[in-house]
Amino acid sequence: EKGGYPHFMLKEIFEQPRSILDSMRGRLELGASHLNMGGIRAYEQKFINAQRIIIVACGTSWHAGLVAEYLIEDLARIPVEVEYASEFRYRNPIITERDIVIAISQSGETADTLAAIELAKSKGATIFGVCNVVGSSIARATDAGAYTHAGPEIGVASTKAFTAQVTVLTLLAMIMGQKRGTITDTKLRELMVELDTIPAKVTKALELDAQIQEIAEEFKDATNFLYLGRGYNFPVALEGALKLKEISYIHAEGYPAAEMKHGPIALIDENMPMVVIATRDSSYEKVVSNIQEVKARKGRIIAVVSEGDKVIPAMAEYVIEVPHTSEVLMPLVSVIPLQLLSYHIAVLRGCNVDQPRNLAKSVTVE
Ligand code: F6R
Repeated sequence: EKGGYPHFMLKEIFEQPRSILDSMRGRLELGASHLNMGGIRAYEQKFINAQRIIIVACGTSWHAGLVAEYLIEDLARIPVEVEYASEFRYRNPIITERDIVIAISQSGETADTLAAIELAKSKGATIFGVCNVVGSSIARATDAGAYTHAGPEIGVASTKAFTAQVTVLTLLAMIMGQKRGTITDTKLRELMVELDTIPAKVTKALELDAQIQEIAEEFKDATNFLYLGRGYNFPVALEGALKLKEISYIHAEGYPAAEMKHGPIALIDENMPMVVIATRDSSYEKVVSNIQEVKARKGRIIAVVSEGDKVIPAMAEYVIEVPHTSEVLMPLVSVIPLQLLSYHIAVLRGCNVDQPRNLAKSVTVE
């Protein structure tokens, strides 16, 4: 059942080229130059005229929501707020009939997310679900939605569900941008072509497995980790840190790289590993100077860079080169080495990666 892999988590990490493709199938048709998402058809005008989008989710799904915030604001120019479902429902939020609430949930059973939906519904908002489990409570509670086609996710730590969520949300942002006229045809076409290459790029990123295992050997006894990223890679930093915490029980934090100087930089010494996601994008130069700051304080740097980077290898102790893609699609590729790193560290520490202590696959208590 684990398809020859020692753990479900590793199997699921390696399934991602497939699960991303499955989540695009029928929605991205490159030949016909066509984007399509059945779930929004009945609500098209609502999406076009939405005054605001509120995303509610928990954990890894909340991280996918953060990526969606960047995507939707960038491509469709609608203001987006991303809320922890549990906080949202207990603070008397302002919700109107012109708001669209997007609920993201792998299991479709997360109690906090479900309760946030019920609240938003009672205020008249339109609820759109992005769920993996067909017929789940959240899928049933929403007005419309688009399923992620990740297939069953057994490992408690979410991996392929995250990339499937980001895939669906990317398509949604592209469609909204197209319908609202906030993205040019040329830009849209470029993104479609690029999105089509993502499964192959994820396959290439997975080939880094052996190299990442060696890095894991080096850092398996660390007691703390920092993960840094900017822009689209900031949510990826949060996700990398969450994966490590969950399955290896090493304390880890994700930060926007520029926030370092406002506090966390005080933590850096020769014992502090820092995973920096520094792919070639609009904040690349800034991240390079963040790496310099860390290096000057003797932090140990593991950098995730775009293939062919000439600058960072001279600065970082370990360099993981991932295939390059468009900035807005990078999370789908840059998250892969972070999933593998946490997996290997957890295995080397003898942890139960598929069923980490204190965690359950779906959290049905509030
Ligand atoms: C992370 C993880 C949890 C879930 C969270 C939301 O690896 O497993 O943080 O992401 O409990 O679950 P869903 O997406 O099922 O609502």
